[in-house]
Amino acid sequence: MYRTHTCGELRLCNAGQTVTLAGWVQKVRNLGAMTFFDLRDRYGLVQVAVEEHSPETAREAAAEIGREYVLQVTGRVVERSSKNPKMPTGEIEIAAESIVILNRAQTPPFTIEETSDGGDDLRMKYRYLDLRRPPLQRAMILRHRMAQAVRTFLDREGFLEIETPYLIKSTPEGARDFIVPSRMNPNQFYALPQSPQTLKQLLMVAGYDRYFQIVRCFRDEDLRADRQPEFTQIDCEMSFVEQEDVLEIFERWARHMFREVLGVEFAEPFRRMPWIEAMEKYGSDKPDLRFGMEFADMTDLAHGHGFTVFDSADYVVGFAAEGCAGYTRKQIDELTEFVKRPQVGAKGLVWIKVDESGSFKSSVDKFFAADDLRAMAERTGAKPGDLILILCGEKFKTLNQLCTLRLEVAQRLGLRDPKKFAPLWVVDFPMFEWDEETARFYAMHHPFTSPKPEDVGYFETGELGKMRANAYDFVCNGTEIGGGSIRIHSSELQAKVFEALGFTPEQAEEQFGFLMNAFKFGAPPHGGLAFGFDRLCSLFGGSDSIRDYIAFPKNNAGRDVMLDAPSEVDPSQLDELYLSLREVE
Ligand code: AMO
Repeated sequence: MYRTHTCGELRLCNAGQTVTLAGWVQKVRNLGAMTFFDLRDRYGLVQVAVEEHSPETAREAAAEIGREYVLQVTGRVVERSSKNPKMPTGEIEIAAESIVILNRAQTPPFTIEETSDGGDDLRMKYRYLDLRRPPLQRAMILRHRMAQAVRTFLDREGFLEIETPYLIKSTPEGARDFIVPSRMNPNQFYALPQSPQTLKQLLMVAGYDRYFQIVRCFRDEDLRADRQPEFTQIDCEMSFVEQEDVLEIFERWARHMFREVLGVEFAEPFRRMPWIEAMEKYGSDKPDLRFGMEFADMTDLAHGHGFTVFDSADYVVGFAAEGCAGYTRKQIDELTEFVKRPQVGAKGLVWIKVDESGSFKSSVDKFFAADDLRAMAERTGAKPGDLILILCGEKFKTLNQLCTLRLEVAQRLGLRDPKKFAPLWVVDFPMFEWDEETARFYAMHHPFTSPKPEDVGYFETGELGKMRANAYDFVCNGTEIGGGSIRIHSSELQAKVFEALGFTPEQAEEQFGFLMNAFKFGAPPHGGLAFGFDRLCSLFGGSDSIRDYIAFPKNNAGRDVMLDAPSEVDPSQLDELYLSLREVE
């Protein structure tokens, strides 16, 4: 037996017991005749004391050990003379009787403690060492507990966990596919699933009604803090449901998760916000509702005062930054520079200060009289002490820029509290999205999403931009945590959508024939959704980066720097696959 106890569990009540522990050396303090060291395992940290009267073999071992050595220590639990209230085991220590060096360790490249001195790259390279640190352990434990809570709820509700294949057919869903060459079928490729979307729909055709899977998905897209090339979804699908049924059951699921994992309860039903309202009030389809500062359309008030910037703009929109009227010239300049950065892309920022006495001062005083400014202040709901910030330009571009500014102001005001949660459903998404560059429509959610029955007529009139979808997103604190839709279950309607998306019948048959054929054999009405599990973990853990909740993540260039992947392969492997490589230009 390697150990009788773990390093984190011993307390004063264990004093007098002889115990055996196994773990890693965190820190050694050599005080001449005496040596103290902390022994660590997944469960915690405990101090071991080696003293003059300890057995010679233990003293010899203690003289040799260094950080991250793996030891087996046997000794008596004794009350400490100088207690450490910061350590759960701080009232006791182990008086070493025997120390067995189970393995030696090179000096680690960074400190393996609560906080580390290692930079990001170094810690990614030695991820297995970083994972020894308590913050990462807490993240992995949280992720595990959340996965269990997901399964408990869905099992109770009659969902079956069914696995679907990873080597599938390439079916464009939005992002680029990762593809895998097939040795047994030369010049042919599998794709890794961007999600099990079509497979879960086939499971509905097969009669499996309530399905779920905690499943890896693969997308070859540019990475951000909340995006990884491989990530995990809680993927769900149900038959014989309408949108309301899906939202009801998954709102209960979300409440279950918040309650079981965080002890958080919500008194009110989750807000349902139509997509257009989210865009016009918050400039985003994933609004952060932890704070107010809603947008107001001021186009009518702004036009016709001789200020050409406003007069030539399609849309003028602003919000009242709470309590910011005291901002100095320098602070306002900072905000102006912020919106002018290429990532935001605004041309400039107009401001109106509503001072405590209710009078106005603004960057456009020349063009707007006090009454005009008052009307603008009223429109935004500004109170004395607020600072109104205004952008103008093309409608949705401007809304998007103002959204970035609203979040920046909220950040400066400390309103983005990670311990506060503001969940909502965004509903009534547009069915199609026009892309200027390629001059065609794209599915806003995915091509299998059904239009609202009352909007189907737009196929005939060609007003595809007006069509709304039976699609919904679950949003919390400004992050899209999940999304889904009621699906098309008729092959005729599905064919119409493919046509609207620019597929010829042959292309649709080639790519999605398997699904359209299946629909001819009695497809039930069905719908579902998928939650980003990594994003849910980082939301619950209070972090901005999903990487912290993935044991072995990729860096921003999509590389695993620990494994050094992707990497070149042996020419014989390429030969077997009938592949040859080209020079990179
Ligand atoms: P969607 O593409 O919206 O829907 O994905 C669902 C959720 O998955 C998460 N997510 C990601 N997380 C980390 N890294 C990524 N690269 C990434 N991409 C997406 C998000 C998102 O809300 N098949 C549909 C679902 C359905 O209709 O049932 C789908 O995949 O949290």
